Parts: sequence; C-alpha cells; structure tokens
Amino acid sequence: MNAVLWLALAFSSEAMPRPGEACRPCHAAQVDAFRKTGMGRSIDLQPAPSSATFYHRRSNRHYEISGKRIVRYQSDPQGRRVNVLEKSISFAIGSGNHAITFIHQTPQGRLLELPLSWYRQLSGYAMSPGYDSHDHPDFRREISGSCLFCHSAGPKPAPIDCHRCHGPVEAHLQAPAKGNILNPVRLEPRRQLEVCLQCHLETNSRGIQDSVRRPGRDVWSFRPGEPLSSYKLYFDRADSLETDRFEINHAGYRLLQSRCYQASRDRMVCTTCHDPHTARVREDSCTQCHRTAHQSGDARAGQSCEPCHMPRRVPVDAVHTVMTDHKIVRRPRFTNPKEEDHRPYTGPVVPYYEGVDPLSLALAQVRDATRETEALYRRALLREPDSVPLLAALGKILLRLERPQEAVPVLQKAVQLDPMHTDSRTYLAIAHAVQGGHKEAIAQLRRAVADNPDHSLAWINLGVTLEAAGDRKGAWKAYTEAIRLQPDSAEARRRRAQLTYK
Ligand code: HEC
Ligand code: HEC
Ligand code: HEC
Ligand code: HEC
Ligand code: HEC
Ligand code: HEC
Ligand code: HEC
Repeated sequence: MNAVLWLALAFSSEAMPRPGEACRPCHAAQVDAFRKTGMGRSIDLQPAPSSATFYHRRSNRHYEISGKRIVRYQSDPQGRRVNVLEKSISFAIGSGNHAITFIHQTPQGRLLELPLSWYRQLSGYAMSPGYDSHDHPDFRREISGSCLFCHSAGPKPAPIDCHRCHGPVEAHLQAPAKGNILNPVRLEPRRQLEVCLQCHLETNSRGIQDSVRRPGRDVWSFRPGEPLSSYKLYFDRADSLETDRFEINHAGYRLLQSRCYQASRDRMVCTTCHDPHTARVREDSCTQCHRTAHQSGDARAGQSCEPCHMPRRVPVDAVHTVMTDHKIVRRPRFTNPKEEDHRPYTGPVVPYYEGVDPLSLALAQVRDATRETEALYRRALLREPDSVPLLAALGKILLRLERPQEAVPVLQKAVQLDPMHTDSRTYLAIAHAVQGGHKEAIAQLRRAVADNPDHSLAWINLGVTLEAAGDRKGAWKAYTEAIRLQPDSAEARRRRAQLTYK
C-alpha cells in the first residue's frame, strides 16, 4: 500500500468532531470560546496517553499503559506473568482539567471503563475513581448510556455540543434568526438552572442509585427547556446532610443547599456567576448581590471571596482531585478524605428534588427479595411493561423466592427485548438449571459469554452448570477463564480447586 493511501486512511478514520462547526460562520465568538472549555473537550476520540507502569498493591495487580493499550497481569511465585489481560483504548472521557478516564469498546459494541485514569493533580496515573479496593471491577465495568449522557454530545461519543443547552438546531440552521432556537436566558429561572442540572445534578455517584428516569423516557429524550422532573427523579442518602458528603459532580447539588440560592431562589442560576460559553466565573459574581459584605474598613472586602467561602475540597469519590464546593457558607469546616470510602450504604433513601412518587420511592428502597418487593415490581411493570431492568429485577426476586418456573417467562421476555442483557440471560440460565434443564441453561450461558466475554459471573455459572451436567473439563476451562478475568474471585478459585481434587 502506498503512503498516500495510508494517510488518507488515517485521516478518514473518525475525524474528531468539533463543537459548533455549523454555527461558526455566524457565532465565532461563542464557538471559539466554548471549544476551549472542558465541556467543549469532554471526549477525546484519539487519545495519546503517555506510557507508564503502575502497581496496585490492594489488588496485587500490575498495569502497563503504552500506545493505546492497557495490559494487566499478576506475578506467580516464580515471577512469571499470570492472569494476563489486555484491552485497547477506544476513546477517553474527561478533558483532563481534573482527570481522564479511558474506555474500551468491545467487538460486541459494549463500553468498558478501564481501571487506570490520568489525574492532573498527580501528573500521572492511578486507579480510576471507585477502583481503589482489593476487589475492584478491573476490566469488567460496563458503562451505560447515562455516562455518555453527561459527557457526550450524543449516543455516539463526541464532545458536548451546542444543542445540549440550545435544543434542536435544524429550524435555526435553515432560517437563522432570533426566536427559532432556544435561548436559555428567556426561560424562567428554574428551567434555566435545569439546562445545566441535567448533567450537573448528581446526589451520589456510588452506594445508591441516585436517580431513575420516568417510565417511558429513554436516556437521550431530555430537551433543554422542559422540567427536569418530567424526565428524571432523584434520591439521596438520608444521612447526606449530617455527614456533609462532597463528591466530584456536586456543583448543582451543593449550590442548591446554599443560603445564597435558597434565600434568593428565583434570582440565582448557574449563569449568575458563570459565562456559559467560556465557563469562567464573572468578576462581579458575589458583589452583584453582596455589595456591602465586609465593608467599613474590613480588608476582606477587597479580596477574592472564593478561598474563604467556596474552598476547593477533595471529593470522597475521586480522591486524586480537588473541586470547588458550591455550598457557600460563612465558615467552611471540613477534613479532606485520604482514601475512597467503600463502606456500603444500608440506611434509608429519601426523595430529592421534585416529583418523586410513592412507588418510585418504594422501589428505590428495595434491598431484598420478599413477597412485598415482588408486588412492588409487578406494580411497576404495569406502568412500564417493557422495562428490561424491571423484568430482570423481578426475575431475580422470583429466583430468590425459589419460584424458578415463574421466573422463566419473565426473564425470557427480558432477553427477547434486549438480547445483549447478560444479567437477564444469566438468571434465565439459573432458572432453567435449578429445574434440571441443564441443556437450556448451558445454551443460554454459552450465548451470554459469546455476547459478553468479559462477564466473569456468566463464566462461573457456565462452569457450575457444565459440572452438574458431567462435563468437568469444560467446567475447569470456564472457571479458569473466570479467574483470568477476575483474579480475586474466591468462588471461581474454590470451585476449580474442588474440581481438581474431587
Ligand atoms: C448563517 C448564520 C447563522 C448560523 C449558521 C447560525 N446562526 Fe444562530 N443566529 C443567527 C442570527 C442572524 C441570529 C439572530 C441574532 C439577533 O437578532 O440578535 C441568531 C441567533 C441565535 C441565538 C439566539 C436566539 C434568540 O432567540 O435569542 C442562538 C442561541 C443561536 N443563534 C445559536 C446558534 C447555533 C447553536 C447555531 C449552530 C447550530 C447557529 N446559531 C447557527 C445566525 C446564524
Ligand atoms: C451535557 C451535559 C452538560 C451540560 C448540559 C452542562 N454541562 Fe457543564 N460540564 C459537563 C461536563 C461533563 C463537564 C466536565 C468536562 C471536562 O472537563 O471533561 C462540565 C464542566 C463545566 C464547567 C467547568 C469548566 C469547563 O471548562 O468546562 C463549568 C463551569 C460548567 N460545566 C458549567 C455549566 C453551566 C453553567 C451549564 C449550563 C448553562 C452547563 N455546565 C451545562 C457537562 C455538562
Ligand atoms: C449525572 C451526570 C454524570 C454522569 C452520569 C457521569 N459524569 Fe463524569 N462528570 C460529570 C460532570 C458534570 C463533571 C464535571 C464536574 C465538575 O467539574 O464539577 C464530571 C467529571 C468527570 C471527569 C473529570 C473531567 C475533568 O477533567 O474535569 C471524568 C474523568 C468523568 N467525569 C468520568 C465519568 C465516567 C467514566 C462516568 C461513567 C462511569 C461518569 N463520569 C458519569 C457528570 C457526570
Ligand atoms: C452549557 C450550555 C451552553 C452551551 C453548550 C452553548 N450555549 Fe449558547 N447560550 C447558553 C446560555 C445559558 C445562553 C444565554 C446567555 C445569557 O444571556 O445569559 C446562551 C446564548 C447563546 C447565544 C446568544 C448570544 C449570547 O451570547 O448570549 C448564542 C448566539 C449562542 N448561545 C450560541 C452558542 C453556540 C454556537 C454554541 C455551540 C458552540 C453554544 N451556544 C453552546 C448556553 C450554552
Ligand atoms: C455564586 C457563584 C457561582 C454559582 C451560582 C455557580 N458557580 Fe460554579 N464556580 C464558581 C466559582 C467561584 C468556581 C471556582 C472558580 C473557577 O474554577 O473558575 C466555580 C467552579 C465551577 C466548576 C469547575 C469545577 C470545580 O469544581 O472547580 C464547575 C463545573 C461549576 N462551577 C459548575 C457550576 C454549575 C453547574 C452551577 C449551577 C448549578 C454553578 N457552577 C453555579 C461560582 C459559582
Ligand atoms: C443572586 C444573589 C447572590 C449571589 C450571586 C451570591 N449570594 Fe451570597 N447570599 C445571598 C442571599 C440572599 C443570602 C442570604 C442573606 C441572609 O440570610 O440575609 C446570601 C448569604 C450568603 C452568606 C451567608 C451564608 C450563611 O450560611 O449564612 C455568605 C457567606 C455568602 N452569601 C457569600 C457569597 C459569596 C462568596 C458569593 C459569590 C461566590 C455569593 N454569596 C453570591 C445572595 C447571593
Ligand atoms: C479571609 C476570608 C474571607 C474573605 C476573603 C471573604 N470573607 Fe466573607 N466572611 C468570612 C467570615 C469568617 C465570615 C463570618 C462572619 C465574619 O467573621 O464577619 C464571613 C461572612 C460573610 C457574609 C455573611 C454576612 C456577614 O456579613 O456576616 C457574606 C455575605 C460574605 N462574607 C460575603 C463575602 C464576599 C462577597 C466576599 C468577597 C468580596 C467575602 N465575603 C470575602 C470570611 C471571608
């Protein structure tokens, strides 16, 4: 192949989309400013990470990042590499203003978050947020569309673009004029705020599911200008206020807790302080409302207000970075966490923000399988009969309640609606297996590991079922693959050991 063709190929592959390309002829100022922000660079389709090695002591795993690949291995007592796994980097999330997380797209189209991230504060790599534990998800964490909803222009990964705040642009591009595209400044203040909150409101990134979409709303159906609560419902941990939790994506959550916001409700929105296209903070952010703060000889009046009232803190869910606390108080008091908090939350969940109905709240509290929780899921399915997560959850409850015959049709419906839903397929296989249907179970599990070769639990279940059907060699292979994927899996190790010595 000649060099010219090579170049043409290199450039034709995924040219990096640039925000506001269609708008630039007429709105160069907004476009050029926005492209420099973190939001305008929120995804990198051609990341070039620097090479490095990293040893994670807690999980005893070595990582090497080089070119566009991450390799993981462990060392056996002879110093040989075992449990080697390698994944390519398909694209990166995060401008790097604070951090960059790498994503692998599998041949089946799944997106997996990779275990190493780059942090500005370290000028180097460490485990991705949430991965600093002995049993972290390593290469197995599938990220859903909701991750991209906040970080991408659309379902196809690309930097955040104008339409995320201005809504559909087609009418305006056809006949550019005032009035045929959303200008957020003309929305009532709450709707204006929600243009930003669609991405900047998160109560908890871990421990509880902090929000659910309303029945019938898919991830990408939110339109700026509509009430946020007609799209999504929010929940919070009951102890959040007393523990003063502070997380990486807490700008909206903490601002809503401020006296400044609460006492001036309809006057304060994000753009009271931030220019939306440069994302910078305006000079007069505080003094527009506090003209007289610290007057009459108080030196503080002339100083910058942020260090005292909006300090930077280490968030508990991403400890290698610092973020501005948007809860504005007189005397901030806090201690920065040194480590990630991996304690599970078992307390109650409370409604947060607007519009939470009793059924949604009751579902958010569900922790175990009982006749009552079964009834809740059945009611929810009346509202939303084709919801795969609800069907999977009900199927799992029926399995726990030892009613596998009833679980089968529920889970069959789930895999019909979403053939790639590995959890539903795995539960379906278990429902068959516990009724003696090893053949159906094995067929489902073989399909599950073909669709999702990184799913260690599906491999373990395949091993168990093969073993029950008398195929010990097949079982040994399945457990071995599970261990390679998840070296900390005690279950797979125990079962493989028993198989050898039986
Ligand atoms: C061919 C020129 C042109 C292009 C291309 C264009 N616009 Fe405009 N835009 C205008 C004009 C003209 C106005 C009206 C300005 C005025 O009257 O103040 C406008 C106004 C706007 C307004 C304010 C609307 C209002 O009612 O207050 C927004 C927002 C806007 N454009 C966004 C965009 C976005 C986003 C794009 C790209 C998707 C875009 N424009 C592409 C010419 C253009
Ligand atoms: C589509 C989701 C989305 C919307 C809508 C959104 N943001 Fe962001 N915003 C982000 C993400 C993601 C980041 C972090 C980007 C990065 O640095 O990788 C961010 C970063 C920022 C920053 C940090 C500075 C910078 O350079 O980016 C500010 C300030 C900000 N947003 C303000 C706003 C305001 C104000 C609004 C509403 C007018 C808004 N955002 C709407 C997702 C969004
Ligand atoms: C609810 C919306 C939302 C979801 C879901 C979300 N993020 Fe974010 N994320 C944000 C916002 C907004 C910021 C910027 C926070 C700030 O600067 O205050 C951010 C910051 C980041 C950053 C740091 C960017 C920088 O340099 O400032 C990374 C990396 C990141 N998120 C990765 C992820 C990954 C990976 C996922 C999915 C597992 C995810 N996020 C899920 C909204 C979200
Ligand atoms: C993070 C949300 C956000 C994004 C993304 C965004 N805008 Fe805006 N835009 C706003 C807000 C909010 C206003 C109203 C500003 C005001 O008057 O307070 C606005 C106003 C405008 C206006 C009216 C004139 C002005 O500057 O006030 C134009 C034109 C415009 N935007 C163009 C664009 C273009 C082009 C893009 C894509 C490069 C873009 N915007 C991306 C939030 C956004
Ligand atoms: C009272 C003024 C004020 C308001 C209102 C405000 N911010 Fe900020 N914001 C700041 C200051 C000050 C900073 C820190 C200075 C800087 O980084 O430029 C900041 C920084 C940020 C950052 C950068 C990341 C970080 O944590 O350092 C993001 C993202 C952000 N704000 C989002 C928002 C969003 C979203 C809203 C609305 C929900 C909002 N802000 C409302 C003043 C404000
Ligand atoms: C939209 C107007 C507005 C803006 C902008 C604003 N504030 Fe406030 N702020 C208020 C109001 C109203 C109160 C409540 C006053 C009262 O309780 O009498 C308040 C209260 C406060 C308090 C006391 C908090 C408490 O817990 O008692 C502090 C400190 C403060 N603001 C600092 C700031 C700083 C610093 C900024 C800029 C980063 C800022 N404010 C921006 C309106 C605003
Ligand atoms: C050196 C730290 C420091 C700086 C800088 C500072 N403040 Fe304060 N501020 C405080 C403290 C401490 C309090 C608590 C009351 C006191 O000691 O006066 C306070 C109280 C306040 C209050 C509550 C009302 C009051 O007067 O008691 C407001 C509003 C406020 N500050 C606004 C501002 C604004 C606006 C700026 C920037 C122009 C600013 N502060 C700069 C430390 C600071």
